[in-house]
This record gives sequence, structure tokens and C-alpha cells, in this order.
Amino acid sequence: MAEENNEIQPGEFRMVAKTMPGLEAELARELVKIGARNVEEHRRAVSFVGDKGTMYKANYLLRTALRVLMPVEQFEASNEQELYDGIRRIDWEQWMGPDDTLAVDATANSEFFDHTFYLAQKTKDAIVDQFRDKHGRRPSVEKFSPTLRINIHVNEASVTVSLDSSGDSLHKRGYREDTGRAPLNEVLAAGMIALSGWNKRSRFIDPMCGSGTLLIEAALLATNVPAGWFRESFGFQRWRDYEPELWEKITEGAISRINNETVEILGSDVSYNVLRKARENIKLAKVDDIVKTACQDFFDSEPPSQGAGLVMLNPPYGERMAQDDVAALYKQIGDTLKKKYSGYQAWMITSNPDGLKAVGLRPSRKIALWNGPLECRFVRYDLYEGTKKIHKLR
Ligand SMILES: C[S@@+](CC[C@H](N)C(=O)[O-])C[C@H]1O[C@@H](n2cnc3c(N)ncnc32)[C@H](O)[C@@H]1O
Repeated sequence: MAEENNEIQPGEFRMVAKTMPGLEAELARELVKIGARNVEEHRRAVSFVGDKGTMYKANYLLRTALRVLMPVEQFEASNEQELYDGIRRIDWEQWMGPDDTLAVDATANSEFFDHTFYLAQKTKDAIVDQFRDKHGRRPSVEKFSPTLRINIHVNEASVTVSLDSSGDSLHKRGYREDTGRAPLNEVLAAGMIALSGWNKRSRFIDPMCGSGTLLIEAALLATNVPAGWFRESFGFQRWRDYEPELWEKITEGAISRINNETVEILGSDVSYNVLRKARENIKLAKVDDIVKTACQDFFDSEPPSQGAGLVMLNPPYGERMAQDDVAALYKQIGDTLKKKYSGYQAWMITSNPDGLKAVGLRPSRKIALWNGPLECRFVRYDLYEGTKKIHKLR
């Protein structure tokens, strides 16, 4: 096997794709698949090397990335003035003019800077002051669709300045209008499906489908529809060095690889109102020919009589429920899986440890994930055919 060349080649640069905790390995796998080099996992991020085409592909194709950043500068700062000076030393005219617009996002893990709002504010001040001094005019702030979205990350005294090539977060796929009460983030949903190892061909069931995120992400994955197919725009399309021909070549290549494989994806929910939203979203995502839905209580449902597959559940976490009701709900989930879904592999995500215990099945895998601010466990149950007994695994 040829050894990987770690040197950055002409036309290449380092990038960082951000993700959610627990999805780093899946994102790294996706990056290798699109041809990224020097792929390295970090906390909530994966760094890699590639050229402009890799950056376009990363934005268009990655299902488990939230943003793709291009670091342009790193310096030390331990107070606001040092931050201001460091930002002002950067020649911002490389990327924008005085009549353009900008937005600044900031994150910090630092004893020197605890208010990300001020970090963003100071950064913006330094940039606009540079333009005002030179041109007498300054770029204005534009929250949505700015010419340049800038990302500041401070780790203790180390400041990393990046250009955000994605613009809006990549979880905003562009197919969803309406959601239920607790929709899964699309990136988390895609990550859960990737972590489950679903083979894209066996039956996929979400019996508590809410607004349908898992169903839609499964269908898009199975048919190889690019994650960004429905998006109207990406940040890099407003950059000075944007190459529309390269973008067209990349998107056309990806679209030509969409397949129309038949795969059985089934969703249901006990609430008709929620299911109506799921149906709208499924239509908007153009997967209504493969995703079939029904308004049904999981506990009264029967899976199709032939064959098996994978069941994925994102049940209510019981935050607004009495303890006994939570235990009863999760026990019923466990009983239903045991009784009716033998032969299936089941995956469930929940933030409720008592609920998990009440399921009464032994998980064969437990993965830590975060659903927004909630620390969750994503667990796998192997429901063996015939025995209905809980097998001790690994
Ligand atoms: C956390 S939400 C699922 C959100 C969904 N993953 C999404 O992305 O929108 C839980 C869903 O379970 C449904 N549910 C609760 N009990 C149910 C039952 N017994 N049978 C079927 N669905 C149920 C609720 O109506 C709700 O839509």
C-alpha cells in the first residue's frame, strides 16, 4: 500500500469539520471516503487536508458534519486588547471588501474569555476598524447569508481564526419545514444510522417516528442522495475564489450516483398530528416513494410477517413524566421488542437511565451521544429469532 504523504501539496490546505460528540469516528470515515487526506479525529471535530474540491465535496456530501472550517490564523491572546490586535493584524482584504457583509461566531474554552458574545463583538470591531481606517467605509454585519462567516475558537490563550465555508449549519439540509416537539438534529440522526451499521438494504423501522428525521436520513443514505442536495446555498459560494464550474462538476458527479434501489423504510407514530408533519417532510425530501408511514401505537403494532431488519427508536425521554410512567413506558418498549420483533436488531437513544433499566433487555452495545444538551445512551439490543430469550452478548 502506498504510504500517505503528510505534506500539504500546492492547492491544498488544512480544514476542520465540526460534529457532535460521539460522531467523530463516523465523520472521519466519511472524510476518507471523499478523498480527504491526513484525517485526524479531535473532540467534536475532525481535521483533514484537501483542496478546494475537497471542501466543496465535504459541504455537499458529509452527513455527520455540522460545519467545515478553514483555519487561516492562530495567535495567542489572554485579554480583549490582545485579541483585538491579533485580529486586526490579519489582512482581511484577502477575503472581503468594505462593501461586503460579515458575521462572527465564537466558541471558547478559556479562563481568559468566558463570554463568547464579547469575543465575537471584539473580533468584528477589529475587522471593521481595519476597513474604516483604510477606506473610510466598513463592511456591515449580516446575520444571515453574509459574504464571509468567520469562526473564532479560543482554547485557553490560543485563538484560532477560521473562515466558515458552510454558512448555515449543515444539519439544515433544506428538506424540512415543520417539526414535532422534539425533533432529532439531522446530523445526529445520520450519525445514529451510521453507528448502527445499517446495511442500507434491510428493512428499517422507526415506530416512534415523530417528524420523520430518522426515516428521511435513512432513505437519503440508501439512495445515495447527497446530504446537501436540498440546500439553497453554502458559505463558500459567496467567497471571492468561488469556482462555479468546479462546484457544478462536483454536484453533477454526486447527483449521477443517486440510485433508485428499493428499500423498505417504515415509520409510525401514535400521534396523528405529528405524523402529518412527518408525511409533509417525507414528501419535501422526495422519499415518499420509499418511506411508508402509519398512525399506530407501537405497542399494538405488528412488524411485516416476513423477514426482519433494524428497528430504531427515539422514544420520549420522560422529562415531563412521573417516574412510574417512565418505567412503564420503557418496560412496554422492551416487552414489545421481545415479543414481536425477534430476529431484528434494535437501537434506541434515550437520556433516561431509569428508563433504560426498565427495558429489561441487555444491550450488546452502549454509545454515549448528546441530543442537544441531553447526555444520552444509544444502545443496541439483539433480538434473536426463535428463543425470545435475552442472550448474553460479548
Ligand atoms: C422524541 S419524539 C421522536 C422525534 C423524532 N425522532 C423526530 O426526529 O422528530 C417521540 C415520539 O414518540 C411518539 N410516541 C410516544 N408513545 C408512542 C407509542 N406508544 N407508539 C408510537 N409512538 C409513540 C410521540 O408521539 C413522539 O412523536
